Amino acid sequence: MFQKIILCCFIKILRHPSNFASVFAKRQILFFMINKKSHLKVILTEDKSATIYNEDLDETYHSKYGALSESLHIYIKNGLHKCPKQSINILEVGYGTGLNAALTFAEAQSSPKEIYYTGVENCILQPNVLRTFCDSFSPDISKQILSLDRLKWGKEHYLNKWFTLIKLNIDIQYFNTNKNFDIIYFDAFGPDKQPEIWSRDILQKMAEFLNSGGFMVTYCSKGTVKRDLKNAGLKILNLPGPPGKREITLAYKD
Ligand SMILES: C[S@@+](CC[C@H](N)C(=O)[O-])C[C@H]1O[C@@H](n2cnc3c(N)ncnc32)[C@H](O)[C@@H]1O
Repeated sequence: MFQKIILCCFIKILRHPSNFASVFAKRQILFFMINKKSHLKVILTEDKSATIYNEDLDETYHSKYGALSESLHIYIKNGLHKCPKQSINILEVGYGTGLNAALTFAEAQSSPKEIYYTGVENCILQPNVLRTFCDSFSPDISKQILSLDRLKWGKEHYLNKWFTLIKLNIDIQYFNTNKNFDIIYFDAFGPDKQPEIWSRDILQKMAEFLNSGGFMVTYCSKGTVKRDLKNAGLKILNLPGPPGKREITLAYKD
């Protein structure tokens, strides 16, 4: 019976793709498929943008108080906008949905700044999960995330004069490069859930990746993380956080 209902909904969508009810039905079906087959669920956050909930880790990809607000506040306002350079080398740890990359791409065009963006991710999202996630965003952001998603992993993509992207499907623990970075967006899951990503060795490695004057920015404001970043030779700034979070951390190299 249930399968019949699903089938009817699909037929309805195919016949009337622009009909609101069909779009709504399609969304419900996608939610169902994602929920049934995977440990990942797309959920709405307080600013009406979506995030992904990882059931196994009991952790979301973004803040429940606002995924878009969080990305804009931490990685654009306190990341990209704080870098005075014209040509900027960015590393993102935990590429995930590509939201930070898409927002950075948009900023690069309007500033304009020349950006070389390296995204490291060890678990690539399924296209249906990403499409459902994108449903909650404006058409511009959604289109941008999906077009970056279509780009092949492990290959450098010169998208235009202002933006070059390379997405690497690798665990950050094994990532190495002879490049240095001006900004590191450190957007891994929380230290309570994945302590290995916040280990002294990884944070030391991040410090070594930075150019002088470069910085790492993260939502995490945990004392032990700040202490390890300090021990790795970085200076710490505690900055006001996005909605629902008192402070975020910027760690810079003199
Ligand atoms: C908090 S989510 C943030 C995702 C992303 N920045 C976004 O806006 O969608 C953390 C991301 O880090 C990835 N990740 C977890 N462990 C990792 C590891 N060891 N190496 C690389 N990426 C990792 C996860 O798969 C997830 O996509």
